[in-house]
Amino acid sequence: MTGTARREDALVEAREVTREYRLKGDLIQAVRGISLEIQAGDFLAIVGPSGSGKSTLLHLLGAVDTPTDGTIYLDGTDVTSMSDPQRARFRLEHVGLVFQRFHLLPMLTATENVELPMAEAGVSRRDRRNRAVELLERVGLANRMRHRPGEISGGQRQRVAVARALANRPSLLLADEPTGELDQATSGEMLELFQSLNEDGTSIAVATHDLTLAAGARKRLTLVDGRIRE
Ligand SMILES: Nc1ncnc2c1ncn2[C@@H]1O[C@H](COP(=O)(O)OP(=O)(O)OP(=O)(O)O)[C@@H](O)[C@H]1O
Ligand SMILES: [Mg+2]
Repeated sequence: MTGTARREDALVEAREVTREYRLKGDLIQAVRGISLEIQAGDFLAIVGPSGSGKSTLLHLLGAVDTPTDGTIYLDGTDVTSMSDPQRARFRLEHVGLVFQRFHLLPMLTATENVELPMAEAGVSRRDRRNRAVELLERVGLANRMRHRPGEISGGQRQRVAVARALANRPSLLLADEPTGELDQATSGEMLELFQSLNEDGTSIAVATHDLTLAAGARKRLTLVDGRIRE
């Protein structure tokens, strides 16, 4: 693994991170010189208007994307100097991702969806089945293990997605608008799940428009036009 500099203090440390997009000659500065730290055990909500850079920042923090400028340390490793395959491998074991639209595979059962990242990481068939069952029980889906995404509700799909995100015991759970497709009551249950996982030691960062979710996090950070509003 590349990334020579090791930082032992923060789970995530971003230093002067910028992400620019060039689109048909236009330069878009989605994230402009952001520095921040996420500590182990944090539950951080990233809020701000549409287009303020929340998703872009979340993807940078989770090593999904690389900054145009600046450095990000995740679990003490510089993820900004890795090659794409190295970053993908690192992400598989260190980051769990949850998306607004769940991104589950429709032909696979809940259990099989949760097993997938473990199969990619080379976990044995028996171990990944056991862990998938344990995780689905943890998110309250003991009675939906063999259901496919089309056979369960939106809130249940998002629980499967959370279980899948936790499969490889990531140090950081990242969620981009995780309640964007859910009604208010189901969103409230998702917040309770995040809070309960956080109490068990899972570090979480969510980008969200959902004020209840943001209020339920331990910390909030507001982005405006690609910058942190102080
Ligand atoms: N792939 C891309 N190419 C070009 N511009 C992009 C790309 N992705 C995002 N942007 C631009 O970067 C800025 C930040 O986008 P981003 O998706 O991070 O905002 P956001 O805060 O997540 O918005 P929303 O609340 O609507 O999800 C926007 O101006 C957007 O148009
Ligand atoms: Mg977004």
